[in-house]
Amino acid sequence: EVSWKLADHPKLPKGKLVAVVVLDGWGDASPGKYNCIHVAETPTMDSLKNTAPDKWRLVRAHGTAVGLPTEDDMGNSEVGHNALGAGRIYAQGAKLVDLALASGKIYDDEGFKYIKESFANNTLHLIGLMSDGGVHSRLDQLQLLLKGASERGAKKIRVHVLTDGRDVLDGTSVTHAETLEKDLSELRAKGIDAQIASGGGRMYVTMDRYENDWQVVKRGWDAQVLGEAPHKFKNAVEAIKKLREAPNANDQYLPPFVIVDDGGKAVGPIVDGDAVVTVNFRADRMTMLAQALEYEKFDKFDRVRFPKIRYAGMLQYDGELKLPSHYLVSPPLIERTSGEYLVNNGIRTFACSETVKFGHVTFFWNGNRSGCFNSEKEEYVEIPSDSGITFNEKPKMKAFEIGEKARDAILSGKFDQVRVNIPNGDMVGHTGDVDATIVACKAADEAVKTILDAVEKVGGIYVVTADHGNAEDMVKRDKKGEPIVGKDGKVQILTSHTLQPVPVAIGGPGLASGVKFRKDVPNGGLANVAATVMNLHGFVAPDDYETTLIEVA
Ligand code: 3PG
Ligand code: CO
Repeated sequence: EVSWKLADHPKLPKGKLVAVVVLDGWGDASPGKYNCIHVAETPTMDSLKNTAPDKWRLVRAHGTAVGLPTEDDMGNSEVGHNALGAGRIYAQGAKLVDLALASGKIYDDEGFKYIKESFANNTLHLIGLMSDGGVHSRLDQLQLLLKGASERGAKKIRVHVLTDGRDVLDGTSVTHAETLEKDLSELRAKGIDAQIASGGGRMYVTMDRYENDWQVVKRGWDAQVLGEAPHKFKNAVEAIKKLREAPNANDQYLPPFVIVDDGGKAVGPIVDGDAVVTVNFRADRMTMLAQALEYEKFDKFDRVRFPKIRYAGMLQYDGELKLPSHYLVSPPLIERTSGEYLVNNGIRTFACSETVKFGHVTFFWNGNRSGCFNSEKEEYVEIPSDSGITFNEKPKMKAFEIGEKARDAILSGKFDQVRVNIPNGDMVGHTGDVDATIVACKAADEAVKTILDAVEKVGGIYVVTADHGNAEDMVKRDKKGEPIVGKDGKVQILTSHTLQPVPVAIGGPGLASGVKFRKDVPNGGLANVAATVMNLHGFVAPDDYETTLIEVA
């Protein structure tokens, strides 16, 4: 039995409104023209940084500080919000899959045994993001799984690839497809019928999230399951190269294609009896497809055919919904999150973002759990995102609406914690459009101002932070830190996140005098924020939480 009661903080009072603002994709980096946060007018964030030096600091948001395998792993929203909400560092999906593959345990567990039953007479399908970004999936893990499955009896294998260009440089899909093709041809040389069967760009095919646009998933379904797509090719590398030639084409948004045989027939539709594995370890952009593959009852789009398959996720994506019911690797078991503790200690909580980031401040924040802990004490509000556009077209996104919803929640007096995610720096940063990202950063800063003004009015406290870097550096750099210029004479635009640290700022009229950042947590990371927020609500965090960032002089 968990004892939920938190000890009272010896010095800090209860009853203050605490606003927790997470700027998505907002790291700290040296000034320069590719630092969109620096170039943009951001007076609110600037003043937090410059006016109270003992109430502003940086924390680590990448690598082992957030449970990723190495210090070369950039941060991302899943691991960032997990750490912010859970207050502890968990080995994350990327790492858990690495370990399971290295030890071979993945092949002894229930999930693999389940899909293996299809190997003798049916096809094994692997669907996922073809990338070495390490955010949703990793190509080396897919390669190992291909090898492992073929050594354990898979005779016919079809891979359904999604091209990236968002966690890695645009255009790298070609190299990735070549690498994969080489592995598949080696398998063929050993008598295994293995090939790529379909593909498409991750943002246009399959990897939608938080039900923003089910048509994205449908496009993937048509290609992967039905074997139907507007583009047909004999070979995946050729398909990707050709589709990239269209004006404005990029990896993220490639249209769906299927690979066909000499007779024009799709080589890998998914049919009764087949096994399917979705190889992404990260949840948010796989749960929609997982539902389509697993749920008998389903009305999000017309599946036309619902094959009876053995389906397993690389991980279980949703612990609450138990989705999917079969999986190759157990996900990190994130329990006793700060949100659950605080609600159980009477903290009335409001959480809000727009659709594309809504699950970040709810699902990820709560340790990958859907829904709230106590609907009488919590209210989660989702503002519908624009769909069917790339966010550089509307870089302000719903920042003002999020700011206003938070403001209203703060002024209502109904909540003790008001928590938001402001998506602009990240979502627009991922488009690689520098000018639009500058507009995005300004809008995010204005939303922060709206929230801080409301905190001021009610005598509350604010904590402003971010989940990982993105908008503060939009260019790929060499070891010396200089922008890399590509063959075309242009700098290589960085659409991905970064390794940069992120700010944490505290303040507001409700902040007890004498509260400041400790000097003895120099390597503090996102996981230290949870205990800090608990303190500001007047509680001491549980012993096993990463230590607080603040002290009271
Ligand atoms: C995405 O899913 O959009 C990117 O791969 C990662 O972005 P996020 O971690 O900020 O959501
Ligand atoms: Co991002």
